[in-house]
Amino acid sequence: MADYEYLYQSRTEDLDLELSIEGALPESIQGTLYAIGGAGCKVGDTALSALDAHGRVVAVSIAGGKAQLRARMVQTPLWKAERGASAIVKRRLFTNKPGRWSNLFDLDLANPAGHNVVPWGKDVVAANDPGFFVLDPQTLETRGPAPIQPKKGATFGPMPRRDPATGRHVVFEQRPGLKDTIIVREIDDGFQVAKEQAYSLGRGAAFFHDVAFTERYYLIMQFASLSVPSFAWGAATALEALRFEPDSTPVMHLLPRAGGAPITVPLPGGRAHFHFWNAFEEGGAVVADTLGYDGKVTFGSLLPPAARPARAPPPAATPKVASWRYHIDPASRSARPEKLDDVASEAPEIRADRRGRSYRYGWAPAQGRPGDEEDPMSFPWFHALGRHDFQEHTTQVWDAGPRAYVSACAFVPDGADGAEDRGHVLAWIQDVGAGTATLGVFDARDVAAGPVARLTGAGLLGGISHVSFAVR
Ligand SMILES: [Fe+2]
Repeated sequence: MADYEYLYQSRTEDLDLELSIEGALPESIQGTLYAIGGAGCKVGDTALSALDAHGRVVAVSIAGGKAQLRARMVQTPLWKAERGASAIVKRRLFTNKPGRWSNLFDLDLANPAGHNVVPWGKDVVAANDPGFFVLDPQTLETRGPAPIQPKKGATFGPMPRRDPATGRHVVFEQRPGLKDTIIVREIDDGFQVAKEQAYSLGRGAAFFHDVAFTERYYLIMQFASLSVPSFAWGAATALEALRFEPDSTPVMHLLPRAGGAPITVPLPGGRAHFHFWNAFEEGGAVVADTLGYDGKVTFGSLLPPAARPARAPPPAATPKVASWRYHIDPASRSARPEKLDDVASEAPEIRADRRGRSYRYGWAPAQGRPGDEEDPMSFPWFHALGRHDFQEHTTQVWDAGPRAYVSACAFVPDGADGAEDRGHVLAWIQDVGAGTATLGVFDARDVAAGPVARLTGAGLLGGISHVSFAVR
């Protein structure tokens, strides 16, 4: 089996083990690193797109010089039903049920709860577009659906972001229609809605993912729309029904936090965007830092080769991704792009208290020396970790080698005060050759030196889409 296919292997078992600590584990790291990804990649005979696979949370709790790993599947009703039936029972965004007609007019999509995991007050939330689940932060037991859920047929943005200025989680709901309605909520740690604003967008069935905010605006990015008729007809998955024309110009929507009409700004360059580094205001301008792909992204390579139609052409290669800054003038609805650096990166991380404010540093998995993967620009197959200095426009990269994959990372500050980059960065390094997963601890200022400590003892974990760290 090729190295890159490690991602497609189902790894649904519970894990409980103590990791060995090699090197100097900094005393400032006391808490739990959570990682999530689509681990249940096969149900019965159906192989799922990695974006549709059942989520498993892997937590490493670090305290008193010890590191304990625990992994549990998110116990969604979908997981219980599909494990029992040994078959997929609900349609996914990127995987249809077997049989063309079973998908006809089926827009009630399943929730595999495998995209994102975030600390939420005393709890942890597993997030995916169709809704959120609440987990116990220690045992990882699934308590149930979060008290806040999207309306039936609507979706949440799967990337809740905590605003350090308010302490609230910013979450948007997308209600599709001839025009999309976006409802942005600021939700406190007890799941109470502290603020809610609704916005009507000009185009329907758009594709959104991440959210950013500044003092005056929430920001969401649109790069493609979904052809609702072909998706509803059932022959196409959402992936196949993504429509890049005529809505080929990506846009940024600035949604006024105080309410009012959205400000829609075309983004020159035709890039596709999913994640923000950050956003902030500078004078009257809005600065939005993103990861931008030089063209269309179809996610085709995230469907295992064995699950692809027999005579289908190979999936379209994911285009080059790099860090882009958009200088946006809300008054003229115009944006000027600036390339921040040319390092292919994804799942970006910054210091949490800099979100919505000006900042200088970021950390992210990066594509280093490619291995045998068929689609080197697709993030799950990145081999390196990068430290970006957006003031000096320099990037340090540490490469784990062509047989090792580096996950999304978390920045852990060394104390609440001090320089923005004083702290450590934690990322999983999965070495397919050795069959091991190692949690690497990097000095955030000197990522290029490689890990200062390694937490070892785990086998391969599979795909990881996002991680987060909670001080406990
Ligand atoms: Fe994401």
